[in-house]
Amino acid sequence: MDLSGKVAIVTGSGRGLGLAYAEALAASGASVVVNDVDQAVVDAAVARIGANAVGVAASVGDTESADKLVAAAVEAFGRLDVLITNAGILRDRVLWKMTDDDFDAVVKVHLRGTFTCARAAAVRMREQGAGGRIILIGSPAGQRGNFGQTNYAAAKAGIAAMARTWALELARSEITVNAVVPIAATEMTRTIPAFGPVIEEAERTGAPYPAWLRHDEGLGTVEDVTGLITFLASDASKGITGQAIGIGGDKLSLWSHPAEKSVLHQDGGWSAEAIAAAWDFTPETYGIPAPKAQP
Ligand SMILES: NC(=O)c1ccc[n+]([C@@H]2O[C@H](COP(=O)([O-])OP(=O)(O)OC[C@H]3O[C@@H](n4cnc5c(N)ncnc54)[C@H](O)[C@@H]3O)[C@@H](O)[C@H]2O)c1
Repeated sequence: MDLSGKVAIVTGSGRGLGLAYAEALAASGASVVVNDVDQAVVDAAVARIGANAVGVAASVGDTESADKLVAAAVEAFGRLDVLITNAGILRDRVLWKMTDDDFDAVVKVHLRGTFTCARAAAVRMREQGAGGRIILIGSPAGQRGNFGQTNYAAAKAGIAAMARTWALELARSEITVNAVVPIAATEMTRTIPAFGPVIEEAERTGAPYPAWLRHDEGLGTVEDVTGLITFLASDASKGITGQAIGIGGDKLSLWSHPAEKSVLHQDGGWSAEAIAAAWDFTPETYGIPAPKAQP
């Protein structure tokens, strides 16, 4: 897919999925602003990508960092067409052990980082008047909840909510906003007990990931995620907005949005006793399902 002439920012693109996104966009002809917290990591990523990349070492979360990223895109390449808010960290703990710092650190990078970067990008894209693409990065944890991830699930659920909100607000400017829900083997996923040994085995032997992992769990390499990113960055995705789209391994999916599923009405409203007498809702399942046993 041809992205020549387009300029993209990818936050947290020093390694993992972000680096794969930046490389894929550049390989399709886009110019890319690479970002990460460490200057040496940023320099190495820029060197890998080549002439159509510049780097900004900055920690996303603060408005200043977001402004630096947009300024770098404009200064180096003259415009901004695509923003991918990918930077992220984990600080997993069960609720009763989670500290204020654990909570604030994750919310700052994911939720505030997404907000500040998207706001700066939207200002620039609206000034340009030529539309744009804002691609947010969600997570299955944000869609369903996940044990030990109060901070991360809350931030990622908030990101999906912001995608739906900004899709409304930016529709007139022809700026699309979607949340991608990726799964891939990275430093983050190798800590998951069901996946870690399989990922390590595949890396050690060079063998492809087994079919049950790619097909059923939707977990593959970071490169498996890049096709969706490139598509969403391109003109071919015109009109697709406000969606949460899953990708990983051999699987591509469209997530549902929360909607009322079962509804009862009673004239005059509902007392506690009336609710107790009428309650026959089938509960929704929640939480990421445990990976199925391997064959
Ligand atoms: N790997 C998966 O299966 C998976 C699943 C769901 C969601 N995600 C999301 O995808 C994104 C990338 O994940 P990954 O697996 O590649 O993780 P990763 O840890 O390999 O990479 C994250 C990158 O973000 C950078 N980063 C962290 N804080 C930053 C900050 N404040 N400013 C700038 N950069 C910062 C890190 O230094 C790192 O290079 C994250 O948002 C993550 O939550 C990943």
